[in-house]
Amino acid sequence: RVFPEARDASEAAAQEIATLVRSRAAEGRTCILGLATGSTVVKVYSALVRMHQEQGLSFENVAVFVLDEFLPMTPECLQSHVRFIYEHLLDHIDVPRDRIFVPDGTVSQDQLSDYCLKFENRIDEMGGIDMLLLGIGRTGHIGFNEPGSGTDSRTRPITLDAITRIDSASNFFGVENVPRRAITMGVGTILDARRIILLAFGEGKASIVARAVEGEVAPSVPATFLQQHDDVEFFLDSAAAANL
Ligand code: GLP
Repeated sequence: RVFPEARDASEAAAQEIATLVRSRAAEGRTCILGLATGSTVVKVYSALVRMHQEQGLSFENVAVFVLDEFLPMTPECLQSHVRFIYEHLLDHIDVPRDRIFVPDGTVSQDQLSDYCLKFENRIDEMGGIDMLLLGIGRTGHIGFNEPGSGTDSRTRPITLDAITRIDSASNFFGVENVPRRAITMGVGTILDARRIILLAFGEGKASIVARAVEGEVAPSVPATFLQQHDDVEFFLDSAAAANL
């Protein structure tokens, strides 16, 4: 779906989420959201906060799983995904605190595989992700699934691509400060979500969006695996859709 401006696309994505949250609440069910971080999704979250404050949209029946986190990373750190998701969304809405799950960037090396398995199992125990909101990196990553990630990949530690670290450099005041690794939901974890909305804005995303939508499905561009999912939509502004 191509919108004139990022703001329109963000508003529409927030509406989709709100509709799902309300319909799950009407059925007395929990709504499991998988959420991305990054500049692209900021306006979606501010729209949801506004709906909570102005329209009384309740998130009491919601559980949140955040897609990824840098490794190592402490929650208090300016660049942590924990901090991002609380500042932009969770501090302002009523998701129960015991139903918020963000990959823990402080887990020690020897605990990592155990931790990732537990994170993955927790998603299953909650009933699986109803709606997953994604951005896309210039490498074609979804979450932090860099080129080479296959459809069978699950939540795990991953080495970040050089391009991804360059794209994060300004947030970290220099590329040398960007962590070399991250914890991310796998491509398989992402494809298990019942519904996926990917947002991409601006001309800088135009070529990777075209490859993701129209290119051959291959691990060299992990976002191409979304072509195999039967309920995925890309919400784009006209600049990001320019090469389609
Ligand atoms: C980050 C995150 C992704 C995000 C992407 C795009 O590194 N791991 O989940 O979608 O890169 O970021 P942005 O929205 O800032 O362009």
